[in-house]
Amino acid sequence: MASDDNMANVNGQEAASLNGEPVVKRPRENVQQDVSLRAPREPQNKVTVVLGAQWGDEGKGKVVDLLAMDADIVCRCQGGNNAGHTVVVDSVEYDFHLLPSGVLNKKAISFIGNGVVIHLPGLFEEAEKNLRKGKGLQGWEERLKISDRAHIVFNFHQAVDGIQEQQRQQQEGKNLGTTKKGIGPAYSSKAARNGLRVCDLVSDFKVFEEKFRMLADHFLAMYPNLNVDIKGELKQLKEYAEKLRPLVTDGVYFMHKALTGPSKKILVEGANAALLDIDFGTYPFVTSSNCTVGGVCTGLGVPPSYVGRVYGVVKAYTTRVGVGAFPTEQDNDIGDLLQSRGREFGVTTGRRRRCGWLDLILVRYAHMVNGFSAIALTKLDILDTLPEIKVGVAYKVNGEPLPSFPANMDVLTRVSVDYETLPGWRCSTETVRSFEELPPEAQNYIRFIEDFLQVPVKWVGVGKSRESMIKLF
Ligand code: GDP
Ligand code: IMO
Ligand code: MG
Repeated sequence: MASDDNMANVNGQEAASLNGEPVVKRPRENVQQDVSLRAPREPQNKVTVVLGAQWGDEGKGKVVDLLAMDADIVCRCQGGNNAGHTVVVDSVEYDFHLLPSGVLNKKAISFIGNGVVIHLPGLFEEAEKNLRKGKGLQGWEERLKISDRAHIVFNFHQAVDGIQEQQRQQQEGKNLGTTKKGIGPAYSSKAARNGLRVCDLVSDFKVFEEKFRMLADHFLAMYPNLNVDIKGELKQLKEYAEKLRPLVTDGVYFMHKALTGPSKKILVEGANAALLDIDFGTYPFVTSSNCTVGGVCTGLGVPPSYVGRVYGVVKAYTTRVGVGAFPTEQDNDIGDLLQSRGREFGVTTGRRRRCGWLDLILVRYAHMVNGFSAIALTKLDILDTLPEIKVGVAYKVNGEPLPSFPANMDVLTRVSVDYETLPGWRCSTETVRSFEELPPEAQNYIRFIEDFLQVPVKWVGVGKSRESMIKLF
């Protein structure tokens, strides 16, 4: 008898079905001592996690796509369509915001977990747009599951995001530079406990409508000029409810079955990044979710003991979109070169990304929080033309070294960075497909990073395509 059968406590009868499966119970008086239960439980299938180790846009989409080729399930656990993940397959550039990048693997199930905030028009538009680009998305609806506990981002959340940014600008002289996708306001509704979830939308629409109006009124009371089309949005949501219903699942049970059932490869695609994490990032210039490893457990219902390998994605230099301190930023020719060679424009907002040298203090801090098993180092090819390359290795304030990454943004703005200068290789690495073929200076750059972080580099990216990822071990 499968262990699921112990979940309901009904004496000797067939209990109410769980996700359509009958649950048969043993009579209570006949329960035998199961000797195997006395040994500690060992996880069966562990999840492999891919996380951003800087300020986002490290190339997570590409790494996930690579690993997703033989995955059974690919999950998103946090964030929303503030993320923009690019995957290039057969020269077609797909961009994903809410859909896991693994949706391109026709044999895998894509899963959007409870920790994600979903803007429904955004989700369906994203699918339509990618469907027009190539064959990769065909049949996506058949392989997508969405947790019934995920919260919904409404159009008025996005409008509120814009108003809050304007207010910050007026009151404090600067804003956060959000993506205006309604992420902060939607997570605020979740924390304030008046948010609405997928399970609300696909249940009794009348009840949903009532709660929706109350939530809209709540925001209207705060922002009287808020442009809310309650009637129009409700009509649209009713249509989305029908499209959504077949995709909705009990996310906790779905993950439990995947983790404890027959062998399965489960991949988690982190969105945003460590330094944008609401707890560990450069607060307040952060997003509103946990983009570090803890978000995998809370955003999917994965017990910590089921977390396996955690891969950190590190860009060979540093970029940041939006506002906030950036110690190794190069507001000069070097920054311009990285920006133009790296085509550093935001996938979600089209904004120009700020660029600078690789900051290893920051990546080491991300490693402290995430415990990376190994690193995927991306965009090494962008450094190909540089005669020398600098790497940030220590922060100092008033000449005194800081032991770690500071919490206080005033301190971070004041740090001076100690750099190590490494020789460049000044030749193209784009066609290189093995570590040994890389120029010695590029090998040295990689070894320097490993040595500083005490974490192995497992992959090195030298181009946009799947093929241009060198595997080291
Ligand atoms: P994500 O948000 O972490 O998934 O990253 P983005 O997709 O926002 O940004 C990364 C950009 O770099 C995308 O345009 C990728 O196609 C591109 N990219 C990823 N890896 C490499 C690489 O190794 N070399 C080059 N030249 N481009 C890369
Ligand atoms: P991926 O997954 C880069 C940044 C925004 C802004 C701050 C808050 O593609 O790496 P939000 O809209 O989340 O409230 O904005 O966070 N930001 C990102 N920057 N890549 C991302 O995602 C980001 N997601 C959020 O630019 O500064
Ligand atoms: Mg991105």
